[in-house]
Amino acid sequence: MFEKLQPAPPDKILALMAQYREDSRTDKVDLGVGVYKDADGNTAIMRAIRAAAKRLHDEQTTKTYVGLQGDKDFCAAMGEIVLGDAVSADRLRVCQAPGGSGALSIIAMMLNRARPGATVWISDPSWPNHIPLLSGAGLTPQSYPYYDAATGSVRFDEMKEALRGAAAGDIVLLHGCCHNPTGADLTVPQWEAIADLCNEKGLFPFVDFAYLGFGDGLEEDCAGLRALARRVPELAIAASCSKNFAVYRERVGAAMLVGANALDVDTAFSQLLSVTRSVYSMPPDHGAAIVRIVLDDPELRADWMEELEGMRSRMVTLRRDFADALRRASNSGRYDFIADQKGMFSRLGLATEQIDTLRNEHGIYIVGDSRINIAGLHHDKLDDLARAIVAVAG
Ligand SMILES: Cc1ncc(COP(=O)(O)O)c(C=O)c1O
Repeated sequence: MFEKLQPAPPDKILALMAQYREDSRTDKVDLGVGVYKDADGNTAIMRAIRAAAKRLHDEQTTKTYVGLQGDKDFCAAMGEIVLGDAVSADRLRVCQAPGGSGALSIIAMMLNRARPGATVWISDPSWPNHIPLLSGAGLTPQSYPYYDAATGSVRFDEMKEALRGAAAGDIVLLHGCCHNPTGADLTVPQWEAIADLCNEKGLFPFVDFAYLGFGDGLEEDCAGLRALARRVPELAIAASCSKNFAVYRERVGAAMLVGANALDVDTAFSQLLSVTRSVYSMPPDHGAAIVRIVLDDPELRADWMEELEGMRSRMVTLRRDFADALRRASNSGRYDFIADQKGMFSRLGLATEQIDTLRNEHGIYIVGDSRINIAGLHHDKLDDLARAIVAVAG
């Protein structure tokens, strides 16, 4: 059996992380890996998460299975923070999933049951795992133009034009906020225009929501998605708790379906749970139970929101100060877009050789599409970093 296989290509980001670990330079800088880091370079456990984990440890009485849907109170709380009152409860169903990736996968497999091999339109560029994940579920990826590197903003007219060429029943994958890898987001009026286009063409919106709370704030980051949800009859959302609750390894996410009516959404939800039954049966409990404790306890929730806001504002400040440092170093406004973009990522627009030079000569680690993790920046090194980037960029 195994002799029939070829080795899978190495994951580029994981390979870069390994190279970084092996680099003995003390002034090396990791802007590659996509996890939030604090000013000391740590991905700390959030205060409310630690408190909730202790409470769970003391109070949990059984480790029996949680059931196909997972923790129902977690699901209700996630539905509330993501959608607010944008859709009525009878049209919404939520199930727990192993991370945002798990939620994306089970929704994609369920959509593939509805329309085998359906085309799924993905932004160019997008999170590198979208194409393997969605095609692995049986869907057919197709890209739409998204990012204009010259201005650092969304090529909205071209995006709409491409989606006008989509066929009824096609799926449109959208990033809920903090687009990965570009940091360029749709405005609320643009979300509304996409919703109208979906209605006009019969397209199915599928929203990947991995960075809620990292852009403009918890409520503000939901505005576009909620505007969409208010307008369309059906949509799916894959929400991740990895970044905003910093529970990466716990694998916590939620798959949400909105249907035209209760009957339709119940049918689709039964298919979603039948997918999970066939893949991993029941979801893991621990991380979702912790998140549920945080969201259901007013004090822990307030503390979580405060800490999340601190992370967000740190990234906003780093964006502004890094753009300033790049302006000083380059004597130009060519990197000003970094201050306007959202979330953890931006692209520097460097070529592969320039990225290699930054790594080899300066110990600065950036992934191959020149995406940088803003949270990996150090305030006291911004000018050095900016000078190195401008020196290699020419
Ligand atoms: C755009 C996007 N979607 C989904 C995910 C998946 O997150 P998780 O770790 O919760 O599976 C990520 C993680 O980096 C991401 O960047």
